[in-house]
This record gives sequence, structure tokens and C-alpha cells, in this order.
Amino acid sequence: AKSGYNHFMAKEIHEQPASLRQCLRGRVNELSGSVSVEELSDIDSPESVQLVACGTSYHAALYVARLFRAHGVPAQAHLASEYVTAPAPFDSDSLLIGITQSGETADTLSALREAQRRGASTLAVTNVVGSTAARECDHVVYIRAGPEIGVAATKTFSSQLATGNLLVEKLCASGTKRTSESTRELIPALRDLPNQLQSVIDNSTAKSVVEEYLDYDAYFFIGRGLHRPVALEGALKFKEITYEHAEGFAAGELKHGPLALVTQRTPIFAVVTGDGERAQKTISNIKEVQARDAPVVAVTDGQSEVRRYANHTLEIPQTHPRIAPVLANTQLQLVAYHMADRMNRSIDKPRNLAKSVTVE
Ligand code: F6R
Repeated sequence: AKSGYNHFMAKEIHEQPASLRQCLRGRVNELSGSVSVEELSDIDSPESVQLVACGTSYHAALYVARLFRAHGVPAQAHLASEYVTAPAPFDSDSLLIGITQSGETADTLSALREAQRRGASTLAVTNVVGSTAARECDHVVYIRAGPEIGVAATKTFSSQLATGNLLVEKLCASGTKRTSESTRELIPALRDLPNQLQSVIDNSTAKSVVEEYLDYDAYFFIGRGLHRPVALEGALKFKEITYEHAEGFAAGELKHGPLALVTQRTPIFAVVTGDGERAQKTISNIKEVQARDAPVVAVTDGQSEVRRYANHTLEIPQTHPRIAPVLANTQLQLVAYHMADRMNRSIDKPRNLAKSVTVE
């Protein structure tokens, strides 16, 4: 069942080019430069969006919320378990999106039900046909990742991000909010994503890089903008399966507190692509940690001068800024996997964790 891999997690990481192709199939029309999502043929464009999710799916929600905001649609991601403690107000043109791989996460279902009680229109983004979220929501979009066995979510996260792009293109396509230029560039980037992800997997040096960082005190992950959810996700995956202390931070927040933890015993994984102002700011943050002798592993593309500063780099090909997080995240999946494998951890069934969390 593991098709020659030692763990389902390895198999599922390697399945991502195929699962992304499956996610995008028939939904991206290169000739017309448009996106169509069959499940959403009868949904109106929302005036505002709220997203609820847990864990890895919450990191996808943070990413998707940013995409909506980039299209001028107010959008906020909420942890489902917190959302129910103080649901944000919404009006009749708002859409409540629940992102849940399994479609069975109790916290997410509660948040969706609470919103429905208040009259919200709901959309489930899920991997499981016929799941509770799929049945209970007004609308459903399937991420089509195929079954995920490893407790640590990998291919479903990538497909959540890809689906997020489809959703935003579809739901923001009508009216004045459409940013047609960004769509035109996005479509070829989506088309190339499966092959680029394959090349990331084939060429990753994550296995040798982790050898340099065994037995450190803690592992920090930083990123800015769309790379912040990647940093949070990189840390979550790492702590889940290595049992080492790992934290993800917005790069700009380091100096507001976490820097106190940084020493030569705390490697920093920094996600930084492109050569714009955002990348420059993250490079400044990298210099701050290097001044405290922390080793830096940069996940980066060819454009960034971060390689001049980093102790090691994990390379991704150049792509659209919205797609780079998917490729960068794959490198961090491999970092977590190889570190956990090196430490002989129970990768597919980490201690204390369940694949689907059906209690609040
Ligand atoms: C982490 C992980 C969990 C899930 C979370 C939500 O690797 O898998 O954090 O993402 O429990 O699960 P779903 O997406 O099924 O609602």
C-alpha cells in the first residue's frame, strides 16, 4: 500500500504532482484564461468572506484569506475552536468557508453550524465526498487529493492551496473586483505547478541539510506575507513528527519577542522568494538572527540574494508569487520527514495525534 515508500507520508509527499493535476483537471482553461469550478456554478460572488479551520487547514485558510483580500474582498481566517467563542458579524452577502480535509473535524463543524444558525451561507472545501461538512454546507468544493493515510497532512494542504486559487478566481471573477492581469499570469503558473513540484521533490537536498541540524535546542520557521502560513505549517509538521520544539513566526514579529529565544542552538528556516521589498525585509530579519549566531536555512528561488547570507539553501523554481508557497512548503515537508526519519519517529502515527479529530 505504501508503493515502495517506507511511510505513507513519503508516498503522499511524492504523490503531490499527481494530486495537484487531479485538483486542477478540467478547472483551468488556458485558452480562455479562466477558471471554472463545476460545483460552484450557482454561487454568488460574496461581499466578504470568513474562513474557519483547524491545524494545517487553518494555515491554508490564512493563505486563502490573503488571496481574497488581494482581490479587494474582505476576508479573515479564524481558528474554528476560537470562532465559536465570538463569531464575527456577517451580512447576507458574506460567505463562510470551512476548510477541512476530512470534513469531520468537530471544531470546524461546530463553527460552520454556528454560522448557519445565524443565517450565513456556507461552503465546505474538503477532500472527502459525502463527509459531514460536505453534506451540511450549502456548497462544497472537493480538493481531489485522493485518500491521505499519514496523520500529518501533506498532499491535502497543497491541494487546499491550489483550490484556494481556483475559488478566489471563480468567486471574485464577476464585477469590478476582478484582477484580470493577475489571473492571466496565474493560469500558466498553475499549469506548471505539478511539474515544478516534481522537480522540487527530485532535487531537494533536505535530507542532507537535516544531518547538519540534529540535536539542536529548537527550530524556528519564519516567512512574510503568503510565506507566513508556510512558516507556520513548516513548524507544525516538524513538531508533529519529530517531537522537537518548533515554532513558526511572521518574519517581522521576531524582533517583537521571539528573538529572545534565538541562539546558535536554534536553526532558523526562512522562506524568502523574489527580490522585492518583502524579500529584502525578510533578509533583514535573517541578518538579525545571524547576529545571534543562529544558523539559517533559506527556502528560496534563484532571484533572492538570501543565498549570500544563508548557511544552506533549499531551492525552488521561480513561479508566480502565489504559487511559490506551495513549492516552498514541499521543501519543509521534506525537512520534517527526513528529520523525523533520521530520529526513528513514528512518522505515520505520531504519538498523541489522530488523523481526524472528532471531539471539541
Ligand atoms: C496536521 C494535521 C491537522 C489537521 C487538523 C484539521 O498535519 O493534519 O492539524 O490539519 O486536525 O483536520 P481537517 O483538515 O480534517 O479538518
